[in-house]
Amino acid sequence: MPRVLITAGPTRESLDPVRFISNASSGQQGIALAEEALARGLDVDLVHGPLEWKTPAGATPHPVTTAEEMLAACRRLHPSCDYMIGAAAVSDYRPRDPARSKRKRDGAPWILELVPTEDILATLGKEKGKRVHAGFALETENLVDNAMRKLRSKSLDWIVANSPEAIGTATSRCILLGADGTRLELGVTSKREVARQLLDAMERTARLRGA
Ligand code: C5P
Repeated sequence: MPRVLITAGPTRESLDPVRFISNASSGQQGIALAEEALARGLDVDLVHGPLEWKTPAGATPHPVTTAEEMLAACRRLHPSCDYMIGAAAVSDYRPRDPARSKRKRDGAPWILELVPTEDILATLGKEKGKRVHAGFALETENLVDNAMRKLRSKSLDWIVANSPEAIGTATSRCILLGADGTRLELGVTSKREVARQLLDAMERTARLRGA
């Protein structure tokens, strides 16, 4: 059975043992992708950060917290997948030196130094082989141009471009863009419908590639 590796949800990057940097991702898109993939009979590895929602029965969950842990889990699972979809809102930065004990409230400013995390899709894109890869791009401006730039820099076959109101909601306005120049306006639609359209497109690419 073909296997899909899906990343979902946010990651958390520690400031100290009780505080962290994260984002508002709920993981709904990743879960909708996992449900749709299961309905198509695919095996699903779901690598996810802290979620507000239950992972679907039938998907193999791989819970992680940080971007570094998410990358390690994906590196381990990627060799045995046929499809990879990055739906996680991976934290792009992490504190350079998280405090080992809880920082006291002393009234002084807390100056943070943040360093970039590794790009999971771009890293695994270098070992893509015949696999079909897809990702998401949340853009506040030049939606299509910026999404196409990301598609190329991460060696993706497909990217779903959407605007920021998609975060934490059940619907979003999306455009599906392909490395082959395909552009499909999905309009305002459910995350499950986005999952259907994206998996249709990815399965088409796999057939063309003879994967
Ligand atoms: O570059 P940007 O974060 O906007 O790209 C978003 C896409 O890249 C999403 O598919 C996300 O899952 C993926 N990503 C990743 N590793 C990161 C940052 C983003 O895989 N460190």
